[in-house]
Parts: sequence; C-alpha cells; structure tokens
Amino acid sequence: MTTTLATHGAGAPAPAPWGIRLSGVTVRYPNGTVGLRGVDLDIAAGELVAIVGLSGSGKSTLIRTINGLVPATDGQVEVGGRRVDGASAAALRELRGHIGMVFQSFNLAGRTTVLNNVLVGRLAHTALWRTLVGAYREADRRLAYEALDRVGILSKVYERASALSGGQQQRVAIARALAQQPRIVLADEPVASLDPPTARGVMDDLRRINQDLGITVLVNLHLLDLAREYGTRMIGMRAGEIVYDGPASDASDAVFEEIYGRSLTAADRLDR
Ligand SMILES: Nc1ncnc2c1ncn2[C@@H]1O[C@H](COP(=O)(O)OP(=O)(O)OP(=O)(O)O)[C@@H](O)[C@H]1O
Ligand SMILES: [Mg+2]
Repeated sequence: MTTTLATHGAGAPAPAPWGIRLSGVTVRYPNGTVGLRGVDLDIAAGELVAIVGLSGSGKSTLIRTINGLVPATDGQVEVGGRRVDGASAAALRELRGHIGMVFQSFNLAGRTTVLNNVLVGRLAHTALWRTLVGAYREADRRLAYEALDRVGILSKVYERASALSGGQQQRVAIARALAQQPRIVLADEPVASLDPPTARGVMDDLRRINQDLGITVLVNLHLLDLAREYGTRMIGMRAGEIVYDGPASDASDAVFEEIYGRSLTAADRLDR
C-alpha cells in the first residue's frame, strides 16, 4: 500500500527549513493605519531571530504578513522562495501548513486533551475524512508524542489542556507547532503572559527547536534582556520600520533607547 508517510510521517527526515525575505513591504490596514513601512528583511533558513520594539511598532504585523494573514499593500513577501503576497487562498493554506504559529494566549482548546490539541498540528497533512472521523494515523500520533517529549510534557498527554499551567500550555502550543513538521516557527510574544523563570523555560524550548531541528524561528519579544539572551540576531522595530538589525549581544542600553525612542524603565526588563 502506498501512503504519504514517507513525506510527512514520523521517522521521515525533518523537512528543510525555509528562509524569509521581505522587499519593500508596506502594510496599510483598511482604516488607514500603517503597520509596516517599506520593510526589507532577509532571514536565512535556520536562523533564530528576536524582534523587539514598543507596543504598536509593527512586530505582530510583521509576523502576520509573513504567513499571509495580513496582506502586504506594497512590496514582496517570500517564504522558502515562494511568494506569499498575491498567493491564492489554496496556496496560502498550503504555505501555512509549513509555518508553525505560537501566540501569547496559547490558543488551545481547553476542554480537550493535550494530545488532541497537538494532533491539530497534523491537520494540514491529514485528509479531511480522517479529520472528520478523528482517525489520525499512528504516525501522526507518534509525531505528537515526539513533539510533547521534546518540550518535556509528555506525561501530560491525556490531561485536559485547561488543567495545565501557563508555561505548560505554551509548551503544548509549541508541540502543536512542531507536530506540523514546520519549516518556520513564528512566535508572537510567546512568553508575555509568563513569570520570568517560566518565560526562560519556554524560550529554552524555542532555542532547542532551532538548534536541534534547524527550524527557522522568529520570536517577538518586548523584554530586552530576553532578546539579548536568546536572539542570536535581533531586529528592532519602531513605527513600522526596522531601526536595528544586528547581534542581540551587541545591543547596548543606548541601542534599546534608540529602538524604543525613550529611556529604559524597569518594566523593559524581565527580572524587575
Ligand atoms: N487589524 C488592525 N487594524 C488596524 N490597525 C491595526 C491592526 N492591527 C494592528 N494595527 C496597527 O498597526 C500598528 C502596528 O501594530 P502591531 O500589532 O503590529 O504592533 P506590535 O508591535 O505587535 O504591538 P504590541 O507589542 O502591542 O503587540 C499599530 O499602530 C496598530 O494600532
Ligand atoms: Mg503584537
């Protein structure tokens, strides 16, 4: 019997990571607000990049533009060499199957099990009839278990998602993204709702995913010391523009003040 396990099943080699390229990208929302202003950005496959900036600077818009949730008004967006801007709805669905998303609010189905939440990550690779009857393949389950193991919460597999702590729920969300066998993971403020030690644990998971699996990871952060600690490369955004692009470790307080357009306060740091 021929199956698609060879391409998408557990045990198959992880798919190659994708790079991201934006050229002259402007995003104007329907109400006229400009979210991005002529952004040029080149991220190589396998990079870990932290994006920092004040509230409203365009961090989320950047992430949503990369996965096509927000259309670019101008310019070109490419992931893995494929055009996102102007892609058909079907092409966008296919592209998004390769891009794992992690959000501040976890976005889990609280009443169902951790396993079912992670299996959702397999949806893009699962025939509709299987989804409808809940008939996930054994290989999908194995991928889900592997993903949960990688973020250290395999023991919670049959618990209801809502019974988990915030940090554990975020790990389920990361496992769900991993079960997709993504080529890129986009994380929008994944640790903003977590206390400092838990935040570091979740960031450690994201870094491990980047280092061990080679997946391209883009993570929005608003705390500068986390960016310094974890982002090999840091992009600073201000009013929809990239105002810093360099090693996070080189970013002095003066650089952050330039990005933020104001003096730093204790609230900008994790361990305050
Ligand atoms: N759906 C929308 N409709 C209109 N304007 C929007 C929309 N989403 C964002 N904006 C505006 O676009 C700009 C960039 O917003 P964005 O959400 O990307 O910022 P952010 O850096 O993610 O902020 P935060 O740190 O608060 O999450 C802001 O001026 C914001 O008000
Ligand atoms: Mg945001």
